[in-house]
Amino acid sequence: MAKLIGLASTKGGVGKTSIALNLAAVLARDGARVVVLDADPAGHALAVGELGALDFPVISLLLEEVEAKAVAAWTKAVRSQDADFVVIDAPGALGAAFGAVVAIVDVALIPTGASMLDIRGAAETVGIVRRHRKAGGRGRPDILVVPSRVDRRTGSGRDVVGTLAGLTEPVSPAISLRAVVADALSVGEAVPADSPSGLEFVALAAAVRARLESL
Ligand SMILES: Nc1ncnc2c1ncn2[C@@H]1O[C@H](COP(=O)(O)OP(=O)(O)OP(=O)(O)O)[C@@H](O)[C@H]1O
Ligand SMILES: [Mg+2]
Repeated sequence: MAKLIGLASTKGGVGKTSIALNLAAVLARDGARVVVLDADPAGHALAVGELGALDFPVISLLLEEVEAKAVAAWTKAVRSQDADFVVIDAPGALGAAFGAVVAIVDVALIPTGASMLDIRGAAETVGIVRRHRKAGGRGRPDILVVPSRVDRRTGSGRDVVGTLAGLTEPVSPAISLRAVVADALSVGEAVPADSPSGLEFVALAAAVRARLESL
């Protein structure tokens, strides 16, 4: 069965889509069958996929209704993906899709920046994911906090992994703020594999795999 990885944040603009696509690119490069599901009505991941340069499919799978029937159909469609890894890009705001993503995934990646306000947002998301996890009663998803858009020139950027440990969930290696992350996706590509950013996404993929294997 496919391993299900969700990007979750109640705060927008934290790097969910960028991480979903670049993480998927690393997993695909390693030979895994990967699908990215865009559950965000904004359709940013889909738009990048439509540029045709990624070597994995990006499929739109929206859930805009809260009724049980719609959620069940959405969940079934996620489970029917023929892949080793399904990476789900969830919308930032709290809505039907956010809850459904948290209810189905094995691991929830929570990207966050390093500033005080970013960390407050991440703490809120961690709290909500934990509540959903308790209500779901299956002991999942596991949570992995992902330091994202980290500026190493700032004190908070340099300290981010230690600071985020205060959220009392595992913290992955950081993804730095670099123009290449934005530039590559704007031409439909993941960051170059051997670039400094590419190596950070390789380290992130290793951390995600390690979490999944520990479940
Ligand atoms: N590591 C990075 N370095 C530089 N820019 C980045 C990085 N990650 C994301 N960005 C830029 O930050 C912005 C937000 O990133 P992204 O769209 O991935 O976040 P998101 O959480 O999916 O946002 P939304 O809530 O709108 O869906 C984009 O302009 C993106 O290009
Ligand atoms: Mg997005």
